[in-house]
Amino acid sequence: MRIAALKERAAGETRVSVTPETVKKFIALGANVAVEKGAGLTASISDQDYANAGAEIVAATAAAKGADIILAVQAPDPKKLASANTGAMVAAIFDPFGEKPRVEAYAKAGLEALAMEFMPRITRAQSMDVLSSQSNLSGYKSVLAAAQEYGRAFPMMMTAAGTVQAARVFVMGVGVAGLQAIATAKRLGAQVSATDVRSATKEQIQSLGAKPVFVETVEGIEGEGSGGYATEMSEEYQKAQAELVSSHIAKQDIVITTALIPGRAAPRLISDAQIASMKPGSVIFDLAVAQGGNVEGSVPDQVTERHGVKIMGYSNTPAHLAADASALYARNLFNFLSAFWDNETGKPVLDEEIGNAVRLTQGGKVVSERLSQAG
Ligand code: NAI
Repeated sequence: MRIAALKERAAGETRVSVTPETVKKFIALGANVAVEKGAGLTASISDQDYANAGAEIVAATAAAKGADIILAVQAPDPKKLASANTGAMVAAIFDPFGEKPRVEAYAKAGLEALAMEFMPRITRAQSMDVLSSQSNLSGYKSVLAAAQEYGRAFPMMMTAAGTVQAARVFVMGVGVAGLQAIATAKRLGAQVSATDVRSATKEQIQSLGAKPVFVETVEGIEGEGSGGYATEMSEEYQKAQAELVSSHIAKQDIVITTALIPGRAAPRLISDAQIASMKPGSVIFDLAVAQGGNVEGSVPDQVTERHGVKIMGYSNTPAHLAADASALYARNLFNFLSAFWDNETGKPVLDEEIGNAVRLTQGGKVVSERLSQAG
């Protein structure tokens, strides 16, 4: 069993899919691990660190050669995997809805594509869930990045020269990233409020010491679909939400938006008119900017200014915390593969529930039900 971890090729991708820790653990399972030369450099891991952990360092041209399992952060071009063994597994982030031609190319190449972002939201898969591990770090980073752009302080300070007021931070979308954004803003001393379409988040917001801001006027909405994901809301709800947000947002200094609906463009939460109602010098961080954006006028990896308000968002937020993001991502991959490790055959044998959820292609075909249902 040969496992190959590749160097990332996508622009701005600084993460790596294995760490010396997971190399050692895979070797303990009986696998050989090959790591492409320089794969960890952007995440502060040297080739020597990998070699000390027992990995073989291989040149780019030979990286996938003879591999039974290929690990990556972002799914590599399948053409680059021609030297892997027939039917090799590729565990990575595939963006299956956005990159359908690539999924088809994986099928054609006879590879078994395993999309880590399709990990089901069940208790036993929590330690394998790359969306959670990366979103958590993204939520943290979004607050720090916004604080950096903000020309004032976050905590209230009483000084001899007068009082500095605490910043008001509003978090829109309280999933994994939103919860960490609330916690981070609280730690920095801000006054924090938050909203979501899932009513279950109200208590979570309160338990972090923040104020929930919720649409109470539209009856009968839970906002929660399968697997804890948000559903698309009715027009009536969206209108009520926009009104509520409009009055609240005008008083905020920092807004962090994190709202996502799987397989769809991110919902628009903040319009240009709402931005215009904010105080000059306020900052909006759009964590959904790469999925179409929650905020009108947000541009990936740029700070734009509208009506004196700074709007920003990264195309790849976890890549701004490469070392921690890699450590958690690598553990997610190890937890996933080792949970299914069959000691007799020396390879992972996925079960139905998780296997069918994450598997995109196998035996030359696209086999993902979730992908075919999405049309
Ligand atoms: P996500 O990344 O899909 O979306 C972010 C947040 O935006 C969600 O809370 C969503 O409800 C909210 N949102 C969507 N549309 C919105 C709108 N129009 N206005 C305001 N907010 C909107 O969500 P994430 O972070 O993946 O988590 C969702 C839930 O799933 C959480 O309760 C989390 O604890 C749970 N979860 C469970 C896992 C497990 O059991 N293995 C793993 C990951 C998450």
